[in-house]
Amino acid sequence: MTDAADWQFETKQIHSGAAPDPVTNARATPIYQTTSYVFNNAQHAKNLFALAEFGNIYTRIQNPTQAVVEERVAALEGGTGALLVASGQAAETFAVLNIAQAGDHIVSSSSIYGGTYNLFKYTLAKLGIETTFVENQDDAEEWRRAVRPNTKLFFAETIGNPKINILDIALVADVAHEAGVPLIVDNTIATPYLIRPFEHGADIIVHSATKFLGGHGTVIGGVVVDGGKFEWSKNADKFPGLTQPDPSYHGAVYTAAVGDGLAYIIKARVQLLRDLGSAIAPASAWQLIQGIETLSLRVERHTQNAQEIAEFLEAHPDVASVNYSGLPTSPWYAAANKYAPKGVGAVLSFELKGGVDAGAALVDSLKLFSHLANIGDVRSLVIHPASTTHSQLTPEQQLTAGVTPGLVRLSVGLENIDDLKADLSAGLAAARAVADAARV
Ligand SMILES: Cc1ncc(COP(=O)(O)O)c(C=O)c1O
Repeated sequence: MTDAADWQFETKQIHSGAAPDPVTNARATPIYQTTSYVFNNAQHAKNLFALAEFGNIYTRIQNPTQAVVEERVAALEGGTGALLVASGQAAETFAVLNIAQAGDHIVSSSSIYGGTYNLFKYTLAKLGIETTFVENQDDAEEWRRAVRPNTKLFFAETIGNPKINILDIALVADVAHEAGVPLIVDNTIATPYLIRPFEHGADIIVHSATKFLGGHGTVIGGVVVDGGKFEWSKNADKFPGLTQPDPSYHGAVYTAAVGDGLAYIIKARVQLLRDLGSAIAPASAWQLIQGIETLSLRVERHTQNAQEIAEFLEAHPDVASVNYSGLPTSPWYAAANKYAPKGVGAVLSFELKGGVDAGAALVDSLKLFSHLANIGDVRSLVIHPASTTHSQLTPEQQLTAGVTPGLVRLSVGLENIDDLKADLSAGLAAARAVADAARV
């Protein structure tokens, strides 16, 4: 039998991190619905609290069901460890707060999910962390110019939402490393099945597990994954939280205690999760396991359906433009072929010639595509970003994020492609009728 580290993706998504329960022989991972764990004896308790030994103490900090998700996602991404938390937003927050504090600065692409933009622009600013947004994430010079002495990290999405632009991971990672800081990427839309950011130089990966990892629109969760390669010790002055004693942990120095390869993810758990408490419920972790077990199969079909829908829309006379980097007309087609050779996933967006009113009529008349604020469900989904997911951004901010007023975003599901095309055709006809009536 091959070693677990050598398993292929499809095998890892089913087996990594799990084994039959040693007490009951249960084959599937149980939901460990417990808040706390009995210590073997007083010394065991002392060792666990002193980090001299790893083990379960309290479900806010770790839980065996959560641990399976963590080990599995770390295996799928090729990282050294992962931390599962209550939502994608909690994961974004942890990823930054783990190495940035009041007085620090971060650099982020502006082509990111509206919720993450708000977190960086407003909430982190209130905590004293300032963000410079890079408008053209393909421009290495713009990233370089944004760096300050107090910059702690770069952030971008591997597939941007809703422009569906592909991040040139190696280009941005090189500039980050020149500046002595890690590149953190959100790999939610791509999933590790389509893009493997650590292989191209990214240092930390964040997921909204709510989307394709869970996959069924039933559970909220988030993951931070450590690539284990960033040399925190070499940049010790920049990252005192990792390289100097933590008074809240008996003066432990994370890089000394567990090495550069694990310091970041261990600190995120034992300090941030302990103190901020964004723990995921064991039942939610269990649901994520069910989703991850079929990840490759779902993403493969999502991608196949989305590619066909993108081509169908691009050929439609009422459609002004389609954002999908799997189309040869996309400015990111070459980057897609390099970073995502299996395809660019389920999410695409498009602009109707009839503008905002036609877009609203389309959204209202679709039947199979559900109008809601999510992506990554087995069901097909549709939304108008300017009035929903990105509505808290100013019109200028919306434009830099790629959100034009008439833009419609789809998350293409796993239904039969002919049914999806029929639903869209009927919706486009309804939109056309509205646009024609407005012209009369
Ligand atoms: C790319 C991306 N990152 C992060 C998030 C936030 O995740 P959650 O909703 O699980 O908090 C979302 C949610 O839509 C997202 O699309």
